[in-house]
Amino acid sequence: MSEGLFLLVCFFAFPVVVFAQQPNIVLILADDYGWNDVGYHGSEINTPNLDKISASGVRLENYYVQPICTPSRNQLMTGRYQIHTGMQHAIIWPCQPYCVPLDEKLLPQYLKESGYATHMVGKWHLGMYKKDCLPTRRGFDTYFGYLTGGEDYYSHIRCASDSALNKSFCALDLRDGEEVATTYKGQYSTELFSQKAISVIENHNANKPLFLYVALQAVHSPMQVPERYMKPYQFIKDNYRRIYAGMVSAMDQAVGNITEALHRAGLWDNTVLVFSTDNGGQTMSGGSNWPLRGRKWSLWEGGVRGVGFVASPLLKQPGSFSDKLIHISDWLPTFVGLAGGSINTTKPLDGFDVWKSISYGLPSPRQELLHNIDPMFQEETPCEDEEYRLALSEVASREPWTQYSFNVSIHAAIRVSNWKLLTGNPGCDKWFPRPPHNTSLSQSDRLKPVMLFDVERDPQERYDLSDQFSGVVDYLLNRLSDYQKSALPINYPKSDPRCDPTSRGAWGPWA
Ligand SMILES: *[C@@H]1O[C@H](CO)[C@@H](O)[C@H](O)[C@H]1NC(C)=O
Ligand SMILES: *[C@@H]1O[C@H](CO)[C@@H](O)[C@H](O)[C@H]1NC(C)=O
Ligand SMILES: *[C@@H]1O[C@H](CO)[C@@H](O)[C@H](O)[C@H]1NC(C)=O
Ligand SMILES: *[C@@H]1O[C@H](CO)[C@@H](O)[C@H](O)[C@H]1NC(C)=O
Ligand SMILES: *[C@@H]1O[C@H](CO)[C@@H](O)[C@H](O)[C@H]1NC(C)=O
Repeated sequence: MSEGLFLLVCFFAFPVVVFAQQPNIVLILADDYGWNDVGYHGSEINTPNLDKISASGVRLENYYVQPICTPSRNQLMTGRYQIHTGMQHAIIWPCQPYCVPLDEKLLPQYLKESGYATHMVGKWHLGMYKKDCLPTRRGFDTYFGYLTGGEDYYSHIRCASDSALNKSFCALDLRDGEEVATTYKGQYSTELFSQKAISVIENHNANKPLFLYVALQAVHSPMQVPERYMKPYQFIKDNYRRIYAGMVSAMDQAVGNITEALHRAGLWDNTVLVFSTDNGGQTMSGGSNWPLRGRKWSLWEGGVRGVGFVASPLLKQPGSFSDKLIHISDWLPTFVGLAGGSINTTKPLDGFDVWKSISYGLPSPRQELLHNIDPMFQEETPCEDEEYRLALSEVASREPWTQYSFNVSIHAAIRVSNWKLLTGNPGCDKWFPRPPHNTSLSQSDRLKPVMLFDVERDPQERYDLSDQFSGVVDYLLNRLSDYQKSALPINYPKSDPRCDPTSRGAWGPWA
């Protein structure tokens, strides 16, 4: 067959328009990294690499993630809201026998279909009770990392007490592929994971496009960092904030090192690098979302408005920032679009391809964003006294909510253009002061079961406008009600005693 004919046949066999060259895609996810913890947001913590890399790219300043770990990662990997996978409640605890439903098609599976080499380093946290749930069975060619939500940064041991089982377990949680990795004790994970990511880059065969997902442990608790990273921060008096600042500096260096490895390997010119946090900062572990309200686990902006940016020589407007509404579920269709692939699952996506918004500054195809609906919500650690919370639930229970189209005692939030509506108990609602200054918390007014904020003008969520804009309230409650009709029942199984890792020597599949 002549070459011309061969090309013609190929053209008709694969009529999808692909980029001249499929770009490499590198996605770095930080853990519990707060809005006020990056240099370019005015933090007292130095992040020279994040500042510099993002300055040559597009900083996403109207970018949203989910308020906790599993949900953000779940939406990242599926492109679908939590209510559509039955995972709208909380996170996967180590002894719970479930994972992202196996009939969901994950991001690396799409990219593999488009010819990518797919690699993951770091935290999975999308379920591991059976082998079919592991990253290596869900689209990643290689994996190095840990499967649960957190652990010791040096020993890589995860201790978990399970109240339902009335038991505590401690075991190693680190794997190379599907094998337990026992030889990394003492290596600080931020350095270990960046080295592993760099070796993926160095060993990559450039005949194929690369997809590399680096889910760093940093800067989640426990508060641990080698002394040298804390040196610049002796001026920070709060002990947790000082250690946290060191953890951020290590992470910043890790991102710098990974980026540099892409340059060295000659891959950078055709790479799209995305940096994102997975949720807002945890104020109890040194994080700060100042001046935003709330923190991790809450639906306030401090829980869901994320630090994120894109850096790439392929961007049409480098050195800019984006005020377009973008959500973590948008990466899946965006990356599949860049890869020249197509979304051919039978399950409808909730994410949008936002490449043109990011690259050219065009309007975002996303006009609406469901933050979540979780009828079982409970705060992990309340930020306020018991009295106040009882008052809230009392108000909620007295509310004649049947006048509304949605049960407003449910923890839920939705955004449409500039408007954000919250119902039920949104979670810790304080404005934590700007560190390192230690002033007291700002008191908030008594919460109401339905609150409306113009988050474009009022990103701190200080002025509830629900009384003035009842039409907007009705509309948004109707939208919540529509979404709730499309929700799967919550899947949140009881702990399984067979999770006990003692005899296996590591956390991992037991079923
Ligand atoms: C939990 O276990 C401890 C000892 O392991 C036992 O003393 C206690 O009664 C148990 N509690 C429940 C509620 O089973
Ligand atoms: C970054 O690379 C430098 C030089 O190789 C190394 O000394 C440092 O430990 C690395 N940092 C991290 C966080 O991996
Ligand atoms: C911060 O201020 C509060 C209230 O004044 C005080 O109880 C607390 O010890 C202070 N914390 C630090 C780290 O100085
Ligand atoms: C989706 O597309 C890929 C590659 O184009 C193909 O291999 C796969 O069979 C398709 N799946 C469906 C459900 O159409
Ligand atoms: C409304 O939601 C709350 C919280 O989930 C629940 O306890 C209550 O039963 C619901 N009310 C009705 C009438 O469904």
